[in-house]
Amino acid sequence: MFLAHLLRQAGIDAVVLERRDRAYIEDRVRAGLLEQITVELMTRLGLGARMAREGLVHGGVNLAHEGQMFRIDMAAATGSPGMMIYGQQEVMKDLFDGAEALGLNIVFDAEAVQPHDVGADQPSVTWRKDGVEHRLDCEVVVGCDGYHGVSRGCIPDTVLQTFERAYPFGWLGILAEVPPPNHELIYCNHERGFALATMRSATRSRAYVQCGLDERIEDWPDERFWDEFELRLGPEIAAKVVRGPSFEKSIAPLRSFVAEPMRHGRLFLAGDAAHIVPPTGAKGLNLAVSDVIVLAEALGEFFHERSTAGIDSYSARALARVWKAERFSWWFTGLTHRFPETGGLERRLQVAELEYLRTSQAAQTAFAENYVGLPLAQRRAV
Ligand code: PHB
Repeated sequence: MFLAHLLRQAGIDAVVLERRDRAYIEDRVRAGLLEQITVELMTRLGLGARMAREGLVHGGVNLAHEGQMFRIDMAAATGSPGMMIYGQQEVMKDLFDGAEALGLNIVFDAEAVQPHDVGADQPSVTWRKDGVEHRLDCEVVVGCDGYHGVSRGCIPDTVLQTFERAYPFGWLGILAEVPPPNHELIYCNHERGFALATMRSATRSRAYVQCGLDERIEDWPDERFWDEFELRLGPEIAAKVVRGPSFEKSIAPLRSFVAEPMRHGRLFLAGDAAHIVPPTGAKGLNLAVSDVIVLAEALGEFFHERSTAGIDSYSARALARVWKAERFSWWFTGLTHRFPETGGLERRLQVAELEYLRTSQAAQTAFAENYVGLPLAQRRAV
């Protein structure tokens, strides 16, 4: 949807094919932390008014460990305002509202979407809607269809390389209409596993605990969840936890994944279709945004100047940022979670690293610049 808006601004016609309907997407709970790059794009697209009113700007983030907590001042370390708390669902609402106002072409409930002939200059896409088959001949196809989508499969195995780690645990998360225990996020490493206190607003909590992959939601009534959450955060923070009934509860597996290249012929991959990060650091949506900023610029040159320089460097330029975010999310996951194989050595190394982060300004600056989001990769002269 960000790409559809960017293309409209560039005067390029696009059709968005969406398997679900609007209500489904707006109800689907995702992370809620926007990097400056995303905040600026919302604003640039004229979609930032509600975010400016309702979003919460966080200049700091907290790490808790063995009952102690320390704060990293992201704003001071980076000169950026920090992060914006504004749920992905809210972002989607604003994108759809804006799309409606502009008359962007979005086909909801598109079934069996399939790109064809992406290796040649005249690709097409077919889909079915309400039992009727459709076909669109186009100049480029962009696969923004997520990890499970069909686009990535259009790149021949001989071309595509994938890199992957599935983590041996998941995140059990709840949403509840109660104030969060702290006005900023708390990431916590506890011997029973990771916990995260985050929020959607000053009155709506989002809380997560690391859990086994074989856990079932039914086994986690709210009381058990809050007990575990408080235990991990420690007595001082637990005293500030306000319990309330959850209105959403889900388990998400954690994965690091990258597919290279992100372009094959006239097919471009963006977002989760090409890469997955574990949620520690909330980079998923923000990485999709940086992909499409680079891609929209490249497609603008392609359509308006008939230059292929931008599309030829899209994959390398997007991947340069993707890999750094993969590294940070993987590192931050390793620092804050308990792994089945965490032995004495690994545990001592975690403690040493957390201590280093607590006491070193240089380490905090490195953390902060990654957390608030690295700049887009420069274009290299080709
Ligand atoms: C969230 O608010 O859902 C959230 C925040 C930070 C993360 C992951 C998720 O690292």
